[in-house]
Amino acid sequence: MSKSFYVTTPIYYVNDVPHIGHAYTTIAADVIARFNRLKGNKVFFLTGTDEHGQKIERTAEANGEKPIELANRVVKRFQNLSDALNITNDDFIRTTEQRHRISVEEIFKRVQESGDIYLSEYEGWYDVREEAFITETQLEEIQSLPEEKRPVIEKVKEESYFFKLSKYQEPLLKYYKEHPEFVQPSYRLNEVARFVEGGLRDLSISRTTFTWGIPVPGNPEHVIYVWFDALTNYITGVGFPSDEGMFEQNWPADVHLVGKDILRFHAVYWPAFLMSAGIPLPKTVFAHGWWTVEGEKMSKSVGNVVDPYQVVDEFGADVFRYFLLREIPFGQDGDFSKSAIVARVNGELANGLGNLVSRTLGMIEKYFDAKVPEPGNLTSEDEAVRDKALSAVEIFEKEMNEVAFHKALVSLWDFIADINKYVDESAPWTLAKEKNDERLSTVLWTIAQAIGVVTILIYPFMPESAEKVWIRLGSPDSLDSQHLIDAKKWGLIKAGQTVDKGESLFPRFDDK
Ligand code: MSP
Repeated sequence: MSKSFYVTTPIYYVNDVPHIGHAYTTIAADVIARFNRLKGNKVFFLTGTDEHGQKIERTAEANGEKPIELANRVVKRFQNLSDALNITNDDFIRTTEQRHRISVEEIFKRVQESGDIYLSEYEGWYDVREEAFITETQLEEIQSLPEEKRPVIEKVKEESYFFKLSKYQEPLLKYYKEHPEFVQPSYRLNEVARFVEGGLRDLSISRTTFTWGIPVPGNPEHVIYVWFDALTNYITGVGFPSDEGMFEQNWPADVHLVGKDILRFHAVYWPAFLMSAGIPLPKTVFAHGWWTVEGEKMSKSVGNVVDPYQVVDEFGADVFRYFLLREIPFGQDGDFSKSAIVARVNGELANGLGNLVSRTLGMIEKYFDAKVPEPGNLTSEDEAVRDKALSAVEIFEKEMNEVAFHKALVSLWDFIADINKYVDESAPWTLAKEKNDERLSTVLWTIAQAIGVVTILIYPFMPESAEKVWIRLGSPDSLDSQHLIDAKKWGLIKAGQTVDKGESLFPRFDDK
């Protein structure tokens, strides 16, 4: 069997409830997963939670609960978010599960067997919020920041196991050169390569001053560094080390989606651990940008953290999904604001798409008793719509293959504008008045086909709305069973199907 397409999100810390940053990566991964299923690929999509480490232990302590109690409570918020956002993940991994402990112990042992782990002492600084050891250069950078912007760091001096990261400096650089697609967008690869060229020091991979983690095999005084633990989730989730069949079917991952802040862990540490353990490397790590909220950095102290559940309540999951991926090119930073959402809903969803669907289905109801009419001979105008549809599918596919969600949507909306223009120019209402039935049938049939194509293409982004339109077009089989290849077949919406105009798909926000 051919290998499945495997996509992952970062696993989220349970010290805090989900915000739009988490929703963003998960939605993007879902769109990639759905698009790949649409292409006919078998897909495995993993998300989950990162539950160990000093940060979680301290948060639990401050709440007067045990770390596992904190995790059990908060994990539900992340799991329920999948439902609220229409996420189709195949599994949800928690790092406190037994299967994960076995997996982390196994990779640790393999790295040890490669001679890449030694016991020494770590003396330096640690950033508990980021769960990261601070290098000399980073320390200098931190010290040069104004006081209010400096992260809280702590001096640490303890016995620690070290991973020979320095040994992987050259192999990593060679790997980046040979696989430039490994880190995307490409400008991020340059940043990563520059960091590695700057010199890699061995990495402390165990701690002794707290206990909330997976003990080092053979030395339970130490718990394994939370990033070593967390990164391993990507292989645990596909059956490592016990289910070889599942592992072969899915690994290596096709894409790890991550925020730009955690790229270094994924593009430097993770491949080095895997090289050491003799496990193939993921194909791509894609780093996305960060959202500010109404122009400001999102933070608890400012009190502007956006709750994704609230956005879904107010706008619906489809609008939220569309907005996040249309507003900014994937990879760059962007600003989240209600006014920006409303502008997109009114301009692109209500006017562009919603209006096209409702006026077309309304006319089929009115002139043809709600049955899609039989077409007559196609004119060059009708053929032009067909040709544009085919090229719209091709462009969309190309942009989606490059994870360029924003460009895929822009080009799709260009096609929607073309269809709207064709409607206006063909003026079916005038044809109806003139009783030109043959031309009227052909025009409405053509528009119905074009809407069918659009429906298949919006499905990864707005599954609920796409499903609704598909049903309103009177299609007998479910949208789930359609493939991208079907979108290239002109004539997908059959004459005789009964349509239903229904309620407005995307109500405008000023009339709500
Ligand atoms: N637990 C680690 C990841 C381990 S993966 C092996 C972690 N967790 S996190 O919960 O702090 O962050 C998860 C993701 O949320 C990161 O990819 C981060 O970039 C993303 N975001 C956090 N704030 C964000 C924004 N304001 N905007 C966009 N994404 C943001 O890091």
